[in-house]
Amino acid sequence: MGARQLRAAVELVEAIAPLRARLRGADIGRIGLVPTMGNLHEGHIALVRTCRAAADTCVVSVFVNPAQFAPGEDFERYPRTLDADLRLLEVEGVDVVFAPPVGEMYPDGRRDHTTITVPALARVLCGASRPGHFDGVATVVAKLFNVVAPRQAFFGEKDWQQLAVIRAMVRQLDMPVEVVGVPTVRAPSGLALSSRNGYLTAGERAQAALLNITLRKAARAVRGGERDHRRIERDAADALSAGGFEVEYVGVRDAARLVEADANTVNLRVLAAARLGRARLIDNVGVEDEADV
Ligand code: PAF
Repeated sequence: MGARQLRAAVELVEAIAPLRARLRGADIGRIGLVPTMGNLHEGHIALVRTCRAAADTCVVSVFVNPAQFAPGEDFERYPRTLDADLRLLEVEGVDVVFAPPVGEMYPDGRRDHTTITVPALARVLCGASRPGHFDGVATVVAKLFNVVAPRQAFFGEKDWQQLAVIRAMVRQLDMPVEVVGVPTVRAPSGLALSSRNGYLTAGERAQAALLNITLRKAARAVRGGERDHRRIERDAADALSAGGFEVEYVGVRDAARLVEADANTVNLRVLAAARLGRARLIDNVGVEDEADV
C-alpha cells in the first residue's frame, strides 16, 4: 500500500506512513482537511471549496468508519463510490485523498481501540438513539487530526451535533485545529443533501421536504416569542408524524451546549431526526438564521 495515481489524476494515499511523508515539506503550507465517508454530493463539494479557498494543501479523507455505526445500522450497505468520488475531487483541485482500509485506522481491532468520549454532548438527541455513535466520530476524527495535522478542518452544519462534539473535543483536548462549520447545502425543496437521501424513493424524496419546512416553522415560533418550547417540539413532531415520518426527536436547544434553553440562552437551534422509509434524516435550523421563515 502506498501512494498511487488512479484513473483520476488526484493523488490517492491509502496508508498513514506515506500520507505523513507526503504532507511533510516546505511547500505544503497550511493544510486543510475535509473528513468524509465518501459518496460525495454538493454538500461535500461546498466543504472542499471552502477548504481550497482557505488552505494551501487540501486533504480529503474518505473512510466509512465502522465505529460510528451501531449493530443493525447501515454500515454494510452505506454507499461506497470511491472512483466517482476521486473524479469529483480531481475536478475540485484537491491535492490528496486519504482513503485507508479499516485495518489502517484500527490496527488493534475495534474492541481494543482507544475511544474518545465527549460525554455531555454525545448522549443527547442523536446520541440517545445511536449510543456510541459520537464516540466513533470523535475517535476517528481525532485520529485523522493526528495523522494529517491540519490547521483547519471543515464539517457540514447539517450534522450540527457532530460539529458541537468535535468543537468540544478540540477545545477540551487543546488540539491545534480550527474547526470550521460550513452551511448546509439543500435541494430546491429545502431537503438537506445527504448520502442517505439515496435510500429514499422518488415519492419519499418529495415528502422529505416537510422536515425542513417544519423546523423553519418551529424556529419562527421561537423567534416570535413562544416560550413553551416543549409545545413547539410536540407540534413539530405531530406535523412530521402526520406527514409520514417516524420521529426520533425534535429539540429546541442551546446551539452550543445542546441543552434545553434557559433565560440566559441567546443562541437557539431547532434540531430533529426522523425516519422516512429506509432513510434516517437529520436537519437543523438556527432560530436567528432565517429572515425568510
Ligand atoms: O460526517 C461524516 O461524514 C462523518 O461522521 C465523519 C466526520 C467523516 C467521521 O467519520
